[in-house]
Amino acid sequence: MDEKWRPQFHFTPEKNWMNDPNGLVFFEGEWHLFYQYNPHGIGWGHMSWGHAVSRDLVRWGHLPVAIPEENGVMAFSGSAVVDWKNTGRFGKDGGGGAPPLVAIYTGHRVDGSNQSQFIASSTDRGRTWERFAGNPVLDEKLANFRDPKVCWDEKRGRWVMVVAVCEERKVRFYKSSDLKKWELMSEFGPAGSVEGVWECPDLFELAVEGEKPRTGGGIARKWVLVVSVSGGGPTGGNGVQYFVGEFDGERFVADDAGGPGSERGKVLWVDQGADFYAPQSWSDVPEADGRRVAIAWMVNGRYAGAVPTSPWRSAMTLPRELTLRKTDRGVVRLFQEPVKELEALRGEKIEIKKGAIEGVNMQLFDKSVKGELLEIAAKFRAGGVGAEKFGINVRVGANGEKTVIGYDTASGKMFIDRRKAGEVGFHQEFGSVHEAAIEMRDGMLSMRVFVDRSSVEVFANDGEAAMTELILPDPGSIGVEVWGESFGTLVEGMEVWRLKSVWR
Ligand code: FRU
Repeated sequence: MDEKWRPQFHFTPEKNWMNDPNGLVFFEGEWHLFYQYNPHGIGWGHMSWGHAVSRDLVRWGHLPVAIPEENGVMAFSGSAVVDWKNTGRFGKDGGGGAPPLVAIYTGHRVDGSNQSQFIASSTDRGRTWERFAGNPVLDEKLANFRDPKVCWDEKRGRWVMVVAVCEERKVRFYKSSDLKKWELMSEFGPAGSVEGVWECPDLFELAVEGEKPRTGGGIARKWVLVVSVSGGGPTGGNGVQYFVGEFDGERFVADDAGGPGSERGKVLWVDQGADFYAPQSWSDVPEADGRRVAIAWMVNGRYAGAVPTSPWRSAMTLPRELTLRKTDRGVVRLFQEPVKELEALRGEKIEIKKGAIEGVNMQLFDKSVKGELLEIAAKFRAGGVGAEKFGINVRVGANGEKTVIGYDTASGKMFIDRRKAGEVGFHQEFGSVHEAAIEMRDGMLSMRVFVDRSSVEVFANDGEAAMTELILPDPGSIGVEVWGESFGTLVEGMEVWRLKSVWR
């Protein structure tokens, strides 16, 4: 697929509207990606679960709609699990066969009067789905109660659901032995960012890298609660916050103990760019793999309906591996890096050796370094001469077009400036500059940048900060520039790969 602005290595539906990733589950060698989809148009509506599968998280096969809108009930966001023990009795031949997949999603009444939780099951590797006759399985008579994420609690041998009570800025935790009867355990919130309504929660446990095991052995582990917020995000509009804490099977308690190194009350954003929303992580990734992999809807709700692509609207971000690490400041934070499978896209490599930026906007590259699909890994060292600004421009065109990715040592902020990135006029807030706080490490800042036909994703200092932004450049704008605004900034090293399209 080769239309103008058609992502070449990000997932898009062939046509029509897409929003949140749903039902992310790994089963029998396939990464399933369901997604909010309008089968009938390029605007939001008739929400159904679209479906795609991949064996490598890079190339996706498109499958027919899995769960359509039915009888005045749309299929809103939710999750999916493998019911290994056939607890819900949806397995073939009473459970003797392969374990069933079970999807848990929000049934949204089109008249807006009710949102409740529904389930559907599949015994053919997600190809066809049957709705449970006893739906809804959880109805609290609320109009805004959505986006259930279900996981298996191994220790207690039961299912846990986290689901948003949107307007109250809360999530609730329920338990079940069979996916059909759910019992309330606890609530969390309001907390952190509360300007917008709460949506699309996710909950998972991760080892803490760099943390010494506690007495009694074992690795230090923490729980992460992710919550999407419809307003008040890092760039305005929607955003995704997270909490690190403990979950004892019933209750989530966020770490905000205060004391040295604590950042009590500070909102933690998963990604600080404009275009990252409603992420979800994959369920049932085999232990031998062991990764927590997530993907998000790559747009901001403020202008999602106005982005001038056709015949599709919206893409997913790159799939990312999430990790918890102790930072130099002694706090535990979520890091993210694109999954290693994406290295398969690497084509020709151009390596730039160490060099000094010796003047305003000096360009280290010869003009042969260009491309619309690129991965760039660069390490900058500040010269220590005071305020320094440096960075990389991508999708640079003769017409003055450019997307500026930079760092300002004075403010300690990375930024993306897309004011001249190409088409910006479709929404007044699109053509703007966004920032992310990220400290240099030993006087250095590393940036890993992925450039596709209509997006940039930047991962700084091994994924300590991430920024994801849409851009809509002219197809002819394919230049790359490295720049610095003061003497002394060093480029410690830089590698650039031309990336292959998944369509070819
Ligand atoms: C988030 C969201 C979810 C909802 C879905 C409907 O973008 O509003 O809360 O389930 O989209 O499409």
